[in-house]
Amino acid sequence: MSTEFDVVVIGGGPGGYATALYGASAGLSVAVVERDKVGGTCLHRGCIPAKEFLETAAVNRAVSGAAGYGVEVGQPKLDFSVSQSRKQQVVDQLFKGLAGLMKGRGITTFSGTGTLEAGHQVRVTSQQGTVELSGRDVVLASGSVPRTIPGFEIDGEIVLTSDEVLGLDHLPSEVAVIGGGAIGCEFASMFCDLGSKVTVLEALPSLLPGCDEDVVKQLTRAFSKRDIEIHTGVTVNGHSPRGAGTTVSFGEDQKLDVEAVVVSVGRRPFTDQLLGDGTAVVVDPRGFVAVDEFQRTAEPGVWAVGDVVDSPQLAHVGFAEGILAIKGILSEPAIPVDYARVPWCIYSHPEVAFAGWTEEAARRAGHDVVVKRDPFGGNSRARIIGETEGLVKVVAERGPDGRAGRILGVHMIGPWVTEQLGQGYLAVNWEATVDEVAQFVQPHPTLSEGFGETVLALTGRGLHVG
Ligand code: NAI
Repeated sequence: MSTEFDVVVIGGGPGGYATALYGASAGLSVAVVERDKVGGTCLHRGCIPAKEFLETAAVNRAVSGAAGYGVEVGQPKLDFSVSQSRKQQVVDQLFKGLAGLMKGRGITTFSGTGTLEAGHQVRVTSQQGTVELSGRDVVLASGSVPRTIPGFEIDGEIVLTSDEVLGLDHLPSEVAVIGGGAIGCEFASMFCDLGSKVTVLEALPSLLPGCDEDVVKQLTRAFSKRDIEIHTGVTVNGHSPRGAGTTVSFGEDQKLDVEAVVVSVGRRPFTDQLLGDGTAVVVDPRGFVAVDEFQRTAEPGVWAVGDVVDSPQLAHVGFAEGILAIKGILSEPAIPVDYARVPWCIYSHPEVAFAGWTEEAARRAGHDVVVKRDPFGGNSRARIIGETEGLVKVVAERGPDGRAGRILGVHMIGPWVTEQLGQGYLAVNWEATVDEVAQFVQPHPTLSEGFGETVLALTGRGLHVG
């Protein structure tokens, strides 16, 4: 087996496998070094399994409300072990598909831990021994792991991170979720829909810090209506295990008895054993591999992509960075990822999706903005499916004529908005104006016409939206 490649990629998650697939498509010889399974956090411990559980939650919700549509099925009963095995089936099929795709593309996968050494050498260490690979270029894509907080040691029984939640064999009856970011909100929503009593403890003043204020307000209201207890602006002080659970102390001497604690306070870059002696790669004070806007590290010919670099920790950002690195390796023209305008999708109930500036951030950056909102309550399809919570909000820049011009941000909360963001994302990234987008015909009745309606209203003359 050859040990010399055009590109050696360390890490086979979304950042790494996208780099490998795109590089192999361009005719490069590529090796991927992976210590676990290709697919990484996203496929095995993140996006995919979490969304599968959220789907179980959605089915449970739909069946519980079926009588309202004239379908009598009685109270649903959850068998969490079936959901677990279905989740595993989905993951296994996707893993098999990905491994096959990589093999078919001629990518060589090495099992073990990859360490970059001097001269673009990569040492692969595994129980079978050591292999030395050599890459004309090397791409670091070693990903991230959950952050923890002092006083909450992960034991996999009572104190869990997303890694352990996704392997649970039963549902805890009461759950404290520490951190109300993307993972916290998705888990809070999932546990609630599956019948657990959920409390979210968030240090900052609101859920989903950084999201548009209207969206956060709607999400908070929707969660509260479903009896998810939310405490924002609180410090979590520690916990004292008792019997089959624990007592969490937070805020000013407040206590909460729960069966499980989910710690979702962010993820840290994973660089253990990534860098050996003699490389010029720099790790910044927060532990991220330092790169420029083209994914170049401080060592020529060594690149880094995905969660190990300081950019939004999203699989699709990893994909985009992988493509960018390969274009750089091939000396092709490349456009850096515009992180301020990447799509964000959060799969809670209701879902949240957005791209571009929030109203607040746009104003803070000195833009004069015009804003319109279209609540799903007025959307016919939303009425039909019985999911009227939420809104579409479009933020546009005021042009010199005083009218709404370029679209700066699109923010959605409500039914299937993660599938609806596409046209909003394109509008923001194409720097389209309100007048340009208002020309497009939207199918009716659809949920997605809310975006068109909102943009039409921004022209100054709306149909259903004033
Ligand atoms: P996050 O950074 O989105 O949220 C962490 C939250 O924890 C923040 O709101 C923060 O203020 C809070 N926090 C931090 N320390 C705390 C403490 N001691 N007590 C209480 N609250 C505290 O991180 P999260 O949710 O863990 O997700 C990790 C990464 O994974 C995110 O960067 C996100 O991009 C990505 N992700 C994205 C998803 C999506 O787009 N659907 C889903 C899941 C994860």
